[in-house]
Amino acid sequence: MFKTVSIILLLTSLSLISCKKDIKSEKMNTKIVIAHRGASGYVPEHTMEAKAMAFAMNADFIEQDLVLSKDDVPIVIHDIYLDDVTDVATKFSNRKRKDNRYYVIDFTFKELQTLAVTERFNPKNGEQIYKKRFPKGKGNFKLHSLSQEIEMIQGLNAATGKNIGIYPEIKEPAFHKTAEKNLTEIVLKVLSNYGYNTKEDNCILQCFDAKELERIRVELKSELFLVQLMEFPEDSKKLKHFATYANGIGPWYKQILDKKIDGKFTFTSLVSDAHTLGLKVHPYTFRADALDEFSSFEEMMETLLIEANVEGAFTDFPDLVVAFLKNKS
Ligand code: G3P
Ligand code: CA
Repeated sequence: MFKTVSIILLLTSLSLISCKKDIKSEKMNTKIVIAHRGASGYVPEHTMEAKAMAFAMNADFIEQDLVLSKDDVPIVIHDIYLDDVTDVATKFSNRKRKDNRYYVIDFTFKELQTLAVTERFNPKNGEQIYKKRFPKGKGNFKLHSLSQEIEMIQGLNAATGKNIGIYPEIKEPAFHKTAEKNLTEIVLKVLSNYGYNTKEDNCILQCFDAKELERIRVELKSELFLVQLMEFPEDSKKLKHFATYANGIGPWYKQILDKKIDGKFTFTSLVSDAHTLGLKVHPYTFRADALDEFSSFEEMMETLLIEANVEGAFTDFPDLVVAFLKNKS
């Protein structure tokens, strides 16, 4: 009798352990890897090559920062400027503005396509920002439009059977508005043309400008999954309002970290506050070659993805985060 009870207890505890394991894997699988400007740790950011590499690395989402050209084509590029990732200063030296910068909106899509894209550099001294990445000035990379990138990602999804999503960002809507350009409306139209309309459509739309993201939900009635990007510490006081129109937040990862006590990180209440409001949390940017307060990339991933319990990460190194999460599941 005693033996039978012991066996039952043993089997019950084993099944509980395995049940716990299932719950853990399920939870881990909900964390998403967002290829930040593509696999930009390896190939110049926002090039089609960086996006194809991120796709092959099995990122869950691939990011597109968006700026309009002179002829209203949404271009995939991080800034409203061209001179820190292209050879515009050599090819169009007479097209700079008074501030010595070259602006995407001053060039047609046709002109933009003639530029060579390179690894990010400081336009004042020509120095490459991330020294150990793809060598500046090498290769044959070009700018492209949002439509071109969506067609590649959707084409690769069709050819591989994968279902990798897009994560576009409306860049500097106020700047575009001053130039009498409707970046948001144009981007929403392109997204809709390619089948991205609702939360089920594998597209997450992000913006730093809170007024614009709220306008996208309330005035433009978008049903897409919306992420409110956060830049400043005081943004954390606006969470309740963000939750009225957004589905998630994208904070700078340092907004999640608090003091280090006895060698262990502690956390601000940002993630738990967001979770209480039903918001997902996707911090930026996980860079294996810019660790700052972390002693290794492993420590950064463990601290933020597991201990702080966020739902995703923007990373220049999608392969490393995919492998980390796979190992945890
Ligand atoms: O969009 C989130 C992440 O990309 C951080 O912002 O400046 O790299 O576009 P940024
Ligand atoms: Ca971005």
